[in-house]
Amino acid sequence: MLTWSAISLRVAVRFFSSYRRGSFPLSKRVLVIGSGGREHAIAWKLAQSPRVEKVYCTPGNAGMAMTKKVALVDIASHQIERLVQFAEQVDLTVVGPEVPLAEGLADRFLERGRAIVGVTQSAARLESSKIFAKGFMARHEVPTAPFEAFTDVKKALRYLQTQQECVIKADGLAGGKGVTVCGSREEGRAAVESLFAQGDFGVRGDGIVIEERLRGKELSYLALVDGDSIVPLQMARDYKRVGDGDTGPNTGGMGAFSPVPGVDRDLLSKVEERILKRVVRGLGKEGITYRGILYVGLMIVEGEPYVLEFNVRMGDPETQPIMMRLRSDLYDLFSALAAGKLSECAPDWDKDAALCVVMASAGYPGIYEKGLAISGLDTIEPSDQVSIFHAGTAWDAERKRFLTGGGRVLGVTARGETLEEARERAYGVAEKIRWPGCYYRKDIGVNQ
Ligand code: AMP
Ligand code: GLY
Repeated sequence: MLTWSAISLRVAVRFFSSYRRGSFPLSKRVLVIGSGGREHAIAWKLAQSPRVEKVYCTPGNAGMAMTKKVALVDIASHQIERLVQFAEQVDLTVVGPEVPLAEGLADRFLERGRAIVGVTQSAARLESSKIFAKGFMARHEVPTAPFEAFTDVKKALRYLQTQQECVIKADGLAGGKGVTVCGSREEGRAAVESLFAQGDFGVRGDGIVIEERLRGKELSYLALVDGDSIVPLQMARDYKRVGDGDTGPNTGGMGAFSPVPGVDRDLLSKVEERILKRVVRGLGKEGITYRGILYVGLMIVEGEPYVLEFNVRMGDPETQPIMMRLRSDLYDLFSALAAGKLSECAPDWDKDAALCVVMASAGYPGIYEKGLAISGLDTIEPSDQVSIFHAGTAWDAERKRFLTGGGRVLGVTARGETLEEARERAYGVAEKIRWPGCYYRKDIGVNQ
């Protein structure tokens, strides 16, 4: 039995070690900017930190509002000045989506000396301009599909004549919808003509990239990066096409799992040596300070990694399984990154697998209905094996129920000793949830 003196000693030791770390239990406030499944998973994990008193989400979603220690604040991600002001009350801000970073949100925070997880506008060009990213890779010998960039439709169409299967990419940010993978020259032609006819090159896009279509297995590699310090997070695989068997249009992501079978030391060292190290060296040479998250979308072709894209933030839905597997304190990791102390971090991971199935509205990624009542959520037993991260939901206070509020609605994420176990568990839960037209892929994590 513990005596009072033993208890007081323990309390004193905890207090003293917190004091030395400069971080008392339950003393920190964090702001998470964004409103999707990724931000729900980040907020959920931050809220588990014994150091974190409160997680504010702007604008957040109805599911986040139900998470312990989490509160919503009604500021949109583009209201940069309001966010900067609100952040006066918090110790750390974490930016979920890319758009505010591309708009210079992190620059404004840094000018005010606010701690932030998110890169500056110039670093965000790795994601916000495909033309910049491809040129950067060419300059620094980062393996990627052969490509050309065009601002002139005639030249683009002439180049297409020399291509077979190709991928057409709008230069600017397009929410994952600016890429067309073409099986034939005719499809390529149609995609190029439509982009130029509408002048639709994504946000502040200048033109298009046409690149060779690669065939292989995709892999998402996420890392925390500060200058030349790189702390890898776990790898994940996501599913971008809307339909089973990778059919239909690209979406923001229909499911993901982690870890990815078949990623051996050899592949990992190729990714680190040929890609990550060259990227950070290249950023240094171009005078770009990179402090934040780097997501590298890879295609593995016969054992060789090629970069498809860079993102300057966590992936959605890759973050959901990755957060479920993270054992370390996310607040410690993120605050070390923001403080320039990344080299002191070595995150600890669960060996278990985690898998996320995205439940979407009928019609997504095209037009879909909102405001449909979701049933079955109250039948799910609370468990540390399953987390339902909300992506697009609203709360109907009168009838005390969740309504659909977006294209991607929920990310049912489950853990298991094996990928199969995680998959069965996630699908077992997804089957209990429904609304009119609810849709999800049935092949997440199958045949890996
Ligand atoms: P991105 O936004 O550049 O990653 O492209 C979105 C998706 O399009 C990728 O995740 C791939 O599924 C696909 N994709 C992009 N580039 C290529 C390529 N060169 N070859 C084959 N598929 C690609
Ligand atoms: N899941 C892909 C992305 O977040 O860009």
